[in-house]
Amino acid sequence: MTLSVRTIGDLSVSAVGLGCMPQSFTEMVDERERAVATIHRALDLGITLLDTANIYAPTWDTVGHNELLVAEALRSYSGPADRSGVVVTTKGGITRSVGEEWGRDSSAQGLRAACEASLAALGVEAITLYQHHRHDPTLTYREQMITLASLQQDGLVERIGLSNVTAPELLLALELLGGPQSGGVVSVQNEWSPRYRRDSDVLDLCTQLGIAFLPWSPLGGSTQAHDIGSRYAEFASVGGEVGATAQETILAWLLATSPVMIPIPGATRPQTVDSIVRALAVELTDEQVARLNATEPEMDSMYPDDEPRSVLG
Ligand SMILES: NC(=O)c1ccc[n+]([C@@H]2O[C@H](COP(=O)([O-])OP(=O)(O)OC[C@H]3O[C@@H](n4cnc5c(N)ncnc54)[C@H](OP(=O)(O)O)[C@@H]3O)[C@@H](O)[C@H]2O)c1
Repeated sequence: MTLSVRTIGDLSVSAVGLGCMPQSFTEMVDERERAVATIHRALDLGITLLDTANIYAPTWDTVGHNELLVAEALRSYSGPADRSGVVVTTKGGITRSVGEEWGRDSSAQGLRAACEASLAALGVEAITLYQHHRHDPTLTYREQMITLASLQQDGLVERIGLSNVTAPELLLALELLGGPQSGGVVSVQNEWSPRYRRDSDVLDLCTQLGIAFLPWSPLGGSTQAHDIGSRYAEFASVGGEVGATAQETILAWLLATSPVMIPIPGATRPQTVDSIVRALAVELTDEQVARLNATEPEMDSMYPDDEPRSVLG
């Protein structure tokens, strides 16, 4: 099946991707077959973008869990889709260590080690799109971008994306690495959903410069996604008008927000993927989009402790 496509730099991918993070949470650990079936369903239906990260794992000592799962799902896929067109994006820069301590390491040595581990877990020679996950407060953003550039220069990563980035950070990164036309920064992955829309300056920059914007937790995250229609009733109401669920309406609204938007909803069940793909056929009028834009976000990030962000340097 061919779905509508959007671009990430020189890559063409399905207009929605699959966020694989929830498949590596604790409750899913014993559900490996279901996780693999979910990814296979995404491939069957024409999804060609799978988002993962080294730290998506049930415990600190299983870092790489989700990357291994994605690699396994791709290897074991025998359906009709062409696996070679599937883009796997991963991330580095956050650490997990003994005692479930979370930290950051974007030092030259630390980020390179994380990247090499991701290469091994994914079983590839170069990562198609490597996203800097979050800034390391012990370093300037400039230093972290220089390290990222060195991974690209040395051939470990083909393309660079940034995650949880501010507008000043993005501008600095563009100055140092270039933008999508010159093989520099091709994507941004920031939180964006009915509940969180704080980084509109970042989204505006991405739209202006043709940088793909992958909104993370587009349905408010696993804890809110299932009842998001009751929290944000206008999405359920517009959904009723167009014959879609609130979740499908949210994905359609995101796609209508900017041509650079590529939502990456998480899913742990094949039926969820069916609904995600149905969202691509939902057409909203300008008036409906305006009503949805006018809804009030809560604004608090899902991870408020991760703010504020870096020193540019
Ligand atoms: N860069 C970052 O810092 C960062 C942070 C968080 C997440 N992410 C990325 O963003 C992706 C998405 O975020 P997320 O997984 O936290 O949150 P999400 O996509 O907002 O919510 C995921 C939940 O939504 C449900 N869902 C998805 N589509 C649905 C539909 N059409 N109808 C009904 N339910 C639906 C899924 O249900 P089922 O489980 O029942 O299938 C899943 O539990 C992650 O997988 C990860 O790749 C990145």
